[in-house]
Amino acid sequence: MSLARTLFKTWNPLWRAWARLQLSRAKHRSLAGHPRMALRFSRLVKGYAYQGQAWFDADGAGPDSSQRRREGLERLARQFATTSPRTLEATRALEAGVSDLAFTNRYRVPFQFRDAVADSLPVGAFAESSDGIRLRDLDGQESMDLGGSYGVNLFGTDFYKQCLERAFTRAQSLGLVLGPYHPVIADNVARLTALSGMDEVSFHMSGTEAVMQAVRLARYHSKKRYVVRFCGAYHGWWDGVQVGPGNPLPQRDVLTLTEQSERTLNVLRMRDDIACVLVNPLQAMTPNASPSSDSALVGGERKAHYDKAAYTRWLKQLREVCTEKGIALIFDEVFLGFRLARGGAQEYFGVKADLVTWGKTLGGGLPVGVVCGPHHLMRRFREDRPTDICFARGTFNSHPYVMTAMNEFLAFLDTPKARETWEGLDGRWDRRAASLNAALEAAKVPVRMANMTSVFVTRFTQPGRYHWMLQFYLRAQGLSLSWIGSARFIFSHDWTDEDFLELTRRLVAACQQMQSDGWFHVPARPTARVVISEMLEAMLGRRPSRAPSLPEPASPPAGSPTSAPDRLVA
Ligand SMILES: Cc1ncc(COP(=O)(O)O)c(C=O)c1O
Repeated sequence: MSLARTLFKTWNPLWRAWARLQLSRAKHRSLAGHPRMALRFSRLVKGYAYQGQAWFDADGAGPDSSQRRREGLERLARQFATTSPRTLEATRALEAGVSDLAFTNRYRVPFQFRDAVADSLPVGAFAESSDGIRLRDLDGQESMDLGGSYGVNLFGTDFYKQCLERAFTRAQSLGLVLGPYHPVIADNVARLTALSGMDEVSFHMSGTEAVMQAVRLARYHSKKRYVVRFCGAYHGWWDGVQVGPGNPLPQRDVLTLTEQSERTLNVLRMRDDIACVLVNPLQAMTPNASPSSDSALVGGERKAHYDKAAYTRWLKQLREVCTEKGIALIFDEVFLGFRLARGGAQEYFGVKADLVTWGKTLGGGLPVGVVCGPHHLMRRFREDRPTDICFARGTFNSHPYVMTAMNEFLAFLDTPKARETWEGLDGRWDRRAASLNAALEAAKVPVRMANMTSVFVTRFTQPGRYHWMLQFYLRAQGLSLSWIGSARFIFSHDWTDEDFLELTRRLVAACQQMQSDGWFHVPARPTARVVISEMLEAMLGRRPSRAPSLPEPASPPAGSPTSAPDRLVA
């Protein structure tokens, strides 16, 4: 950029006002599109809890529905307490000592309902063994795994058991030696550079760290400050990319823009201070929406739809603008990576990135993060300025056991068995989603699934205050979910058509039971209006912040009714 142009842009107030306006127009109109405002708002919201009858009748469905709901909840509570008592007891005992568990247990459902849910419908946090797509808890209860180990489990639990076993054998003679590399690292680098089409690789301990390093490198080489991320996209929990509620620090050098928007492209074209654009291809299914979770199902809305052609067009447009403006286009493939194709999102969408981050499944079952890029972006020093460096280390980077497990994983990618999972990938999973949706439609329940290959999102065809209850009905059918509940099912690619049929049967049964227990009801008044007025009342101190303190439930003997729902009596 010429000096005259820089001076014009820096000092001309009209230009700056114009640029500011364009930036505002490129922000998504939702709260997620305005992270600083969202952060301020999140600090103002005061907790309150529904109690007694109000807990069952938040949508004004009336006494008959409330009674059916109460009975349904009692049945579920009894089932969980009698089938998995040891698992639940161990979970309760652990919660006080593991902050992560205390957090996830609080955020399974909308906060107005959570005290009673935590008491009546506790969720076991333990699994003792796995066998293919099935997990077994401490009581021997089997469930089909829809949590997918946060996306790590791509090829099935049996595959990772093998990877780990072989990896431990191969690394055993070196053991824990950090600093000198295990010789297998050379093969990993050769494979990763070939898969990514890049020159160099850096190894890290998590996806978050890989993203940190990619962003740092982009800033170092461009000498520009701003990172563009898209509204709602998750890139790990580092301050620099995790903005808005959840991160107490407001971020000043991150721009959150609307994905799939011409206005965003305009901003990228006009500004000269953007170092990189981060893309998480998982957002193709839920553009501009925050990561789904059942705790956000306040009014039951959840949109999801995947259009590969539209997303490919968007990535190509982004590629063009980034090239034109010298902005590093970073594909954050930590989640999706090899799920889409052997060469990841670049291959699947046919778009070349400047930097790629991989993680999760790449570690063959062990923690990992990787950045792949060309020499000119990966270099951490300048030959002509010896004190100007871009520092990145990490004690456990390139851990010998991680390297051998990764090598097992990478070697598998070249086998016919692995190739089979990508052949007809979209067709296979789209067919499964379509047959599942046909079964849901035939059962006349207001639930549907959207999918992007083997990642599924539950949608609801009508609003409702209790859609989050579905997670408990699914659990009662022996389906194991992650803490975000019905929001995302992550299938490993060893699921067979028969497994999927079994899942369909269980999912339909769960929805039907939930329907006959009266939870699906279109609220009489718009939920947003109701909840906003409740929040105002809570802020004015006119609503109790918590349900009354409840006695610890004693584990009931098998078959006996639990007293849990009694606590919901006002
Ligand atoms: C796209 C993406 N980037 C980064 C991360 C962070 O990875 P990790 O949890 O290994 O730190 C995640 C985790 O879910 C992710 O989905």
